[in-house]
Amino acid sequence: MPADFVIAIDGPAGSGKSSTARAVARALSLAHLDSGALYRAVTLAALRRGVPIEEGRLHALSQSGAIRLVLKNDEFVPTLGGVDVSTDVRSEAVTADVSAVAAMPLVRDWVNGELRRAARQHNRGVVVDGRDIGTVVFPDARLKVFLTAEVSERARRRAIQDGGSLESADIHALGEVIAARDDADSTRAVAPLRPAPDAVVIDTTAISFAAQVEQIAGLARRVHVD
Ligand code: C5P
Repeated sequence: MPADFVIAIDGPAGSGKSSTARAVARALSLAHLDSGALYRAVTLAALRRGVPIEEGRLHALSQSGAIRLVLKNDEFVPTLGGVDVSTDVRSEAVTADVSAVAAMPLVRDWVNGELRRAARQHNRGVVVDGRDIGTVVFPDARLKVFLTAEVSERARRRAIQDGGSLESADIHALGEVIAARDDADSTRAVAPLRPAPDAVVIDTTAISFAAQVEQIAGLARRVHVD
């Protein structure tokens, strides 16, 4: 596949974008690039360094060179001060603040530049997941997929992933947190979460992980051959 081969996978929180994108990348020998991890890395850097969540301050922080994407075994990982923070960026504190950070246009411009630079580094191509990858970051992506699933199912999957409780009251509470983040991401002024007009929309509520990965990998093979 050519170096500029990009597959965009967008969707709401807990839709399985990142794990799907990683598996599709592996199946096709492409690299995986998780754009949310970069918004999370900016948020983590602000929390650790006591930088207020203000656009000017976060723009300066993002441009300081402290946050970088590094390619490791076909996975772009976020680093802070040269240290891999791919686990740290998943903390609850980061999750609570990340949507506010991601709503800032200057932060988005910086993230988008980093994503495009990273994509050019890989000689076979990348599978990029996020909210605006097919609409804004890579509008010429060869394949655009939008993953959805019912909120309750997304909450259940998130609980399993995080080793949390599967009691229905807990799943319901987690679903409310996920729905609030969907709302923040879908209603913001800049690059709101929505499918690109030419995206293939896949509802994964009732299909297995393996089936959705195979469906996307199959679509990718087809656009590559065409
Ligand atoms: O995908 P993940 O949950 O890690 O993304 C964290 C947050 O980053 C999202 O809730 C969203 O606010 C933001 N984001 C974004 N655009 C992207 C990827 C993530 O606004 N392309």
